[in-house]
Amino acid sequence: MHKTIALFNHKGGVSKTTTTFNLGWMLAEKGSRVVMIDTDPQCNLTGLVLDYDSAQDFDDFYSKHPSANIKAALAPAFESQPKPIEAVECVEVVGRKNLFLVPGHVNLSEYEVTLGIAHELSGSIQALKNLPGAFRYFVDQIAKAQRADYVLIDMSPSLGAMNQNFLMTSDCFLVPTAPDYFSVMAIDSLANILPRWIEWARRASEAEVLKSASYPFPKPSLKFLGTVIQRFRPRKGKATIGFQTWIDELNSKIAHRLVPALSKYGATLLPTTYEGAGITPNTYCLAEIPDFNSMITISQNNQTPVFALTPAMFGHVGEILRKDLEDRDKFKATFDQMTDKVIALAKHA
Ligand SMILES: Nc1ncnc2c1ncn2[C@@H]1O[C@H](COP(=O)(O)OP(=O)(O)OP(=O)(O)O)[C@@H](O)[C@H]1O
Ligand SMILES: [Mg+2]
Repeated sequence: MHKTIALFNHKGGVSKTTTTFNLGWMLAEKGSRVVMIDTDPQCNLTGLVLDYDSAQDFDDFYSKHPSANIKAALAPAFESQPKPIEAVECVEVVGRKNLFLVPGHVNLSEYEVTLGIAHELSGSIQALKNLPGAFRYFVDQIAKAQRADYVLIDMSPSLGAMNQNFLMTSDCFLVPTAPDYFSVMAIDSLANILPRWIEWARRASEAEVLKSASYPFPKPSLKFLGTVIQRFRPRKGKATIGFQTWIDELNSKIAHRLVPALSKYGATLLPTTYEGAGITPNTYCLAEIPDFNSMITISQNNQTPVFALTPAMFGHVGEILRKDLEDRDKFKATFDQMTDKVIALAKHA
């Protein structure tokens, strides 16, 4: 049975997409079959995997593969088409066997308003009853078709109905975050919003009208796996003092605000499970990932995570290449350990 892992933070630019790609790659490298779904209308993950950067690239892709994207996958429910939701064609990620992508769609947000109305669970829902359970149904279909062990959901930076739905129908979630003031504040709003979302999901799963839908809304069972703190500038391998203060603030906010709020709603794992996975008690931090610096451009140019870059991709020789490979291997060790923690935790979700 597959596990669905959402990467969520309504704060923008905190490495959700980068972490989805890196985690997906590492899970596949470790022998799992992985499907990544790009649910963000910005389509950054799709752009990264397919090396697209213009609207024309996307237009060409959509006309060549009209059904191979998340919007087309959900269209049977959202556009009342006379056919069921089913698995769609996936993109095979070049260079990494067993890693697949369901591309995003720039117009997916067209469904946001209707889904929001369906979520109100009011009198009007009869006509919209197939919408709330549609995404989860699709995830199950694509996981079955690809024989996936993990489905990773790359989410947009928003607190809209789409994200509420994607997160509440996932098995577990990671919160990518950054060591700065705004990211610490964002944890406060997650601690306020997520319990409300879980309460809503419980009501939705018990609503008779949704039970009789073609795609019933599942009982929520979301579990928080932890955070990934990313993109601080390290000095001698450690975060500088300024960043360390924000890392400590983040860890403390997570432990004292977010985790208690989630645990009241059954959305955390047992303390011994986090410890057993090797997470420092009271941090919930799966990895601290420094700035990739110049490697980010090489990584993006090659559609390959920094830790999987080859000597040819670096295009350097001698001492410079030796230093490149040393840096790459440090990142490799970090992502390797992070992925082992995710595997250990997700087992319990
Ligand atoms: N460790 C890192 N070092 C250097 N650059 C990074 C690192 N992680 C991410 N980036 C860069 O930071 C930018 C934002 O990252 P990313 O797109 O993954 O964030 P996001 O949370 O998905 O953003 P959004 O909220 O817009 O979806 C990207 O240009 C990415 O290449
Ligand atoms: Mg993103």
